[in-house]
Amino acid sequence: MIRKNVVLITGASGEIGHGLIEKISEAGGSSIITIDLQPLAPEIKPLVTREFIGSILEDHLLQRILAEFEVETIYHLAALLSTRAEFTPVAAHQVNVEGTLKLLNFAQAQGESHARPVTFIYPSSIAAYGMPSGDFNRKVKEHEWNMPTTMYGCNKLYCEHLGRYYSRYFKQLAAETLSGKVDFRAIRFPGLISAMTVPSGGTSDYAPEMIHAAAKGEPYACFVEPDTRIPFMVMADAVEATLRLAAAPRESLNQTVYNITAFNPSASEIRDLVLEGFPGADISFDPDLMRLAIVDSWPADVDDSAARTDWGHAPRFGFEDGFSEYLFPRIREHYRS
Ligand code: SER
Repeated sequence: MIRKNVVLITGASGEIGHGLIEKISEAGGSSIITIDLQPLAPEIKPLVTREFIGSILEDHLLQRILAEFEVETIYHLAALLSTRAEFTPVAAHQVNVEGTLKLLNFAQAQGESHARPVTFIYPSSIAAYGMPSGDFNRKVKEHEWNMPTTMYGCNKLYCEHLGRYYSRYFKQLAAETLSGKVDFRAIRFPGLISAMTVPSGGTSDYAPEMIHAAAKGEPYACFVEPDTRIPFMVMADAVEATLRLAAAPRESLNQTVYNITAFNPSASEIRDLVLEGFPGADISFDPDLMRLAIVDSWPADVDDSAARTDWGHAPRFGFEDGFSEYLFPRIREHYRS
């Protein structure tokens, strides 16, 4: 029996997953299979070859995939985000760490069963950092301040190391024998803002929640302070960066983990811009101390020069055009329809 070549996306029905599926299928050439607890949106479902509904912790799902498909690239998106993980830390550890371990092990088995190494794309996060709050001038490099304060951040940082462990022979052997089986590449996302969906359970959610509430004409009380500042990026650029990292030639990558960012406004600057797009929007501030402490432990900016140099990270949208030209028109259209 010949197994079919595919791309596997876990957590596929989440925010990043939908964007990724659209882009991969637009480009053509790769069949997609997915795993998620939730079914894919009806408009996305026809774009995938096979949809597995279930948990990444269920071994039989991965065994079925191993038997039937030759997986070339894995986008392992399934995770419990930072706020949610603080309420259920053990469940978060199971999904975020044990789940990733299972996927890495699956990638190793896939790599052993076919000739090519498996590219493993892992979305990490600014949550992998933990640093004093209020330091707005520092652009943090990947190896600095790796002292996360949240379960989610600890999970992400540790899984970056697990990925490096699984690809440990890659660099030294790849040149001569291509013996490395897992080609692990992690991308540390900033807060992401989608025009189509509001994330759930994250702590950078105040930005997308603010915009989507304004578009719906609903009042919004922001759970951080007006001067809270972290890096952000619009979803289209996050998807583009993910695909660019996956496509980069291995020899151009000098590290396994890359920061990326596009802009880093304060919460009040976000509010001001949202008010320009939706005059009369009712946006106030009512900080939640637990969520504020999480965001305050994240860097106000990150240094993404390695991503720009090694694999050409170049976000299309900055803060103002990202909101006025990308987010606002799409969000208006989304709620109109
Ligand atoms: N967006 C994530 C969260 O808020 C951080 O990467 O949890």
